[in-house]
Amino acid sequence: MINSISKVLDELEIQSTREKSKKEDIPHEDRMLAITKETGELINMILRLKNAKNMLEVGMSTGYSTIWCAEVIAEQSGKIITIEQNPSKIKRAKENFQKAGVIDTIIIKEGLAMKILTELSLQKKYNNFFDFVLIDADKENVIEYFDLIFPMVAIGGVIVTDNMLYPEIFRDEMKKFSDYLKENPKLHTITSPIGNGEEITIKIR
Ligand SMILES: C[S@@+](CC[C@H](N)C(=O)[O-])C[C@H]1O[C@@H](n2cnc3c(N)ncnc32)[C@H](O)[C@@H]1O
Repeated sequence: MINSISKVLDELEIQSTREKSKKEDIPHEDRMLAITKETGELINMILRLKNAKNMLEVGMSTGYSTIWCAEVIAEQSGKIITIEQNPSKIKRAKENFQKAGVIDTIIIKEGLAMKILTELSLQKKYNNFFDFVLIDADKENVIEYFDLIFPMVAIGGVIVTDNMLYPEIFRDEMKKFSDYLKENPKLHTITSPIGNGEEITIKIR
C-alpha cells in the first residue's frame, strides 16, 4: 500500500479507537462512526478480486472507508461516488483524501442520500453501472436505499452493508433488511460476522 494512504488510515484508526473508548465527549454529529479495520481489509479485497472501477458509497463520514476503497479504485483508474450530508465531515474527508493522495478518485455528492440516490437512479448511464456499493448511512432507510441502488448495480456486482450486528440497537432493523434481501431471486446474500456485521450481497441477474 502507498505510504500516504496507510499513514492516513493509521491516523483515522487512532481517532476511531479514541472515539470508541468514550474517554472524550465527542458530539454525535462529529463522530466518524467508521467501519472497522477488518471490514476495510475485506472491502479492499473484494474490490481487488473484482477489478472494480465504478463504486458508490452511501455514508462517507470523514472518509475512512472511502480511502480503503480508493486504494484499489485509483489503481484501476476508476471513480468512487460517495454521499454525505454533514458539511463538517465533508471538509474533514477532503483533507484526508488530499493527504492520502486519492482526491482525484473521489466524487463527493453533498446532501440527503434519498434525494441523491433518486437523482442518480434516474440517469440512464447508471443502469447496471456500479461494480461495488457500500451502504453505511442511516439505518432506518436501508431498504429504500437498497431498492434505489439495486438497478444501478452491474450483474456480478457486490453490495456490502455495514452494522448488521452492531450496534445492537440496529439489529432488528437490519434483520428485517437481511430477510427482505433473501426473498429476492436476483441476488445471493450472506450476513458475515466480520467487523460490525457485514451483509455481502451479489447481484446474480
Ligand atoms: C456510519 S457513518 C459512515 C462511516 C464511513 N462509511 C466510514 O467507515 O468511515 C454514517 C454517515 O452517514 C451520514 N448520513 C446519515 N444519514 C444520512 C443521509 N440521510 N444522507 C446522507 N448522509 C447521511 C452521517 O452524517 C454519517 O457521516
